[in-house]
Order: sequence, then C-alpha cells, then structure tokens
Amino acid sequence: MTKKAELHYDGKVYELPIITGAENEKAIDISKLRGQSGLVTLDKGFKNTGSCESAITFLNGEEGILRYRGYSIEDLAEKATFLEVAFLLIYGELPTAEELDNFKEDVSKHTLVHEDVRSILDGFPSKSHPMGVLSSLVSSLTAFYPKSLDPNRSAEEVNGTIIRFIAKLPTLAAWSFKNRMRQPVIYPDNSLDYCENFIRMMFSLPTVNYEINPVVAAALNKLLILHADHEQNCSAATVRIVGSSHASLYASVSAGIAALWGPLHGGANQAVIEMLEEIKADGGDVDKYVAKAKDKSDPFRLMGFGHRVYKNFDPRATIIKKAADDVLSELGIEDPVLDIAMELEKVALEDEYFKARGLYPNVDFYSGIIYRALGIPTDMFTVMFALGRLPGWIAQWKEMRENNEPIGRPRQVYTGATQRKYVAIDKR
Ligand code: SDX
Repeated sequence: MTKKAELHYDGKVYELPIITGAENEKAIDISKLRGQSGLVTLDKGFKNTGSCESAITFLNGEEGILRYRGYSIEDLAEKATFLEVAFLLIYGELPTAEELDNFKEDVSKHTLVHEDVRSILDGFPSKSHPMGVLSSLVSSLTAFYPKSLDPNRSAEEVNGTIIRFIAKLPTLAAWSFKNRMRQPVIYPDNSLDYCENFIRMMFSLPTVNYEINPVVAAALNKLLILHADHEQNCSAATVRIVGSSHASLYASVSAGIAALWGPLHGGANQAVIEMLEEIKADGGDVDKYVAKAKDKSDPFRLMGFGHRVYKNFDPRATIIKKAADDVLSELGIEDPVLDIAMELEKVALEDEYFKARGLYPNVDFYSGIIYRALGIPTDMFTVMFALGRLPGWIAQWKEMRENNEPIGRPRQVYTGATQRKYVAIDKR
C-alpha cells in the first residue's frame, strides 16, 4: 500500500505518493503536481528537492555516514585502491581480482593523449588557472573522439569512452600543471600504477630521474578515494543535467569541472589555504577571523567550514585530518598553517554561532594541507578534487543515461513586468 501525502489547496485535496528509499528516506513524488493542481514548487538551491533516484552513493548528514554502493568510506579509504573504487562506482560492484587486472590493463592502454593536445595547451598563457585549462582539454576530447559525441552508441562503445576518460584525465591534469609551470610535459609510464604515474607526470623533469615517494602515492590514493563521489552535489547535478540533453560524457564532465571550480564547492580547498595564509600573515589571530565569519555585514566566510548535508561532521574531514598528521610526520614537514587550521577548528567548534548552524570542517578544510605537503601548488588543489571526482561524475552520468531520465528543465515563479505595449523610442 503506497503511503500518500495530502495537499489541501483552494478547497481541494490532492494526494501525492510517498517514495521510500533503500535507507528508509521519504520523498513526496510531485511529478504530477502541476497537472493535478496547477501548482509548481519553489526551492532555491534545491535544499529540499530530490532530482533523481540513485543507487550510487548514500549520505546521512546527521550521522556523518558516506557509503559508495553500500561500502563505508572508512573501509574503502583504508583498504581499497582508487581504481578499485572507480570500478565500484561506475559498474556497481567491487571488481574480482581478474576484473581489476583487466580494468587496469584497459586503462593503461589509453593514458596517452593525442599529440595535438600539446598545441591546444600551448595556446594557454602560463598564468591560466589549471581548472580552466582542464575543463577545456576535457571538452577537446570530443574533437579527438567524435564518436563519443553520441551517448546513444552501443554499451561497449560508451564503455570505451569511459575507460579512455579514466585513463587520460591524469595526463590532462598533470599537463595543465606543467603548462602553469612552463615546464615540458612528461608522458605517462604505463609500468606505474595510477597514482604513481600521475605523481611522476606532475613532478618529474626530463633532466632528472624522479623518485616516487610511496608515502606520497599512498596519501594520493586515499585522497582520490575520499573525493570519488558525493551524490547530488553541485557538480554532479551539473553533469546530470547537461547529460540529460544527450550531450556527450566529455561535454557533461567539462561542465561539471566548471561547477566544481567555484569557491563554495570544490574551489574551497584552494580558498582554505589562501584564508589560512592570510590569517598567518595577519599575525595568526584566529579569533579575529572567527568574528569576521559571524559578522553578517562582512562577506568573509570560514572556507572549509559548513556543508549542505553534513550537520555534525564530514566523515571525510575526519579521515583527512588524521592523514594530514601522518603525511606531515612521515615527510618530516612542519607546516605552521596546520597549527592555525587546528586552532581555527577548535575555536569555531566551541562557538555557539557555528554549533547552532551545524558548521563543521568539511572535506576541503584539511585536504589542502596534505596537497601542499605533497608539493602540489595551491591552484592545482581543485584539479586534484576533479581527478578524484571523475569516477563519481561518470557513474552519475551513466546512471542518468541508463535510467533514460528526461531532460532537466526546472519551472520558475515569474516576478517580472506583466504585459505592456511597445513604446516608440521617441516616446520613452
Ligand atoms: C564541497 O554538496 C556537496 O556534497 C559538496 C562537497 C562534495 O564532495 O561534492 O561536499 C564538496 O563543496 C564542500 C563545501 C566546500 N565549501 C566551503 O567550504 C565554502 C564555505 N562554506 C559555505 O559557503 C557553506 O557552508 C556551503 C556552501 C558549503 C553550504 O551552504 P548552504 O547549505 O547553502 O548553507 P547557507 O549558506 O544557507 O548557511 C546557513 C547558515 C547561514 O547563516 P544564517 O543565515 O542562518 O545566519 O550558516 C552560515 C550562513 O551564513 N554559514 C557560514 C558558513 N557556512 C554557512 N558562516 C560562516 N562561515 C561559513 N563557512
């Protein structure tokens, strides 16, 4: 027996079905609301509105739960490899040893990008933000793989597009960094695993025999897993809505990268370090900045704090904070900015303003400290987020296509001028 909600409006009663999710979440299905009642709903920022039914990632913001296809983020971050998690998110199950070997083999065959990518790259000034370069290079993949423009091709061909994407993004990301540094690009080495290959393309130079630090590779593996998906966040919702017009996977993710770039979303990891550096340069007075964050007349916000869903703690921040400690001690790095971050967290968490609003450190608060320790420059932090998030974006796009979702086209409430006559210019 389907439970129903009743809407009483204008002397009539409308019954709206209640949908129950796998974790017992409840939703009012309003898909027939306008046809029945003439009403639409309004929910700026979709704070209360579900856009889809999805089987990929489950979040519980009150209890700080994050699971990819039912597996807890704590388990996966501790025990899995990033490619294993990418396989899980995209295909729905953890791979067998044979499936993982085949996946790795397929990915390793496609790490090289077309040589013409270098001429596109050369067109970017060295001051170009790597996120802008990455979004453009991802879009350029449609030029080299025109068949990928049609998302309705066979499942095998779509899977080929997916494999190429997982394989090439590290190369495009590392090359966007080399463009920033005006250093020669480093080509992929398929004898290395996913993280090692990326680290080498980022930091090696033709003149040195680069030694990959296993601590750095292990930290990167964990960070990429922690960023791999997060249900209907701003960039995933962007990928789904762009893909709902039957735009290609590459075009949809290029749009997702642009959405992630914003400082309220993935760009926060860069903004956190810039904020911590500002506090350090200003004498380390964290109380002053906590007060600024509370002052409604001051646009300053504590970057890396707060979350649309998590209202007690972000489980990823807990894991990253410990990893930051471990990486810094294993690499023997003293980073004064970490001390400021921990003091800022302590002061904010004891402050009524933050407690009352459920504002806690999110995934971006500590990740920048690890990236810095790994030698990654600040304006590459959000590129690192995109590298981790790619399997999630792919999984979301694939699910939307396989569910044959309709094109996304929200309604609105019009508040502009009502009808009026055109006035000749000499009469205005
Ligand atoms: C990510 O959605 C996802 O899952 C995203 C993500 C993912 O994995 O994809 O988890 C990654 O984007 C994490 C968030 C990174 N962004 C930041 O760290 C930027 C700083 N945080 C905020 O701007 C904010 O907290 C958001 C954007 C994250 C969430 O904003 P909401 O849900 O729209 O909440 P809101 O802006 O309405 O804030 C509610 C209240 C307001 O105060 P009141 O009007 O109630 O008095 O909390 C205040 C806000 O002013 N507030 C903050 C604050 N964040 C919210 N005040 C000071 N500092 C902050 N950081």
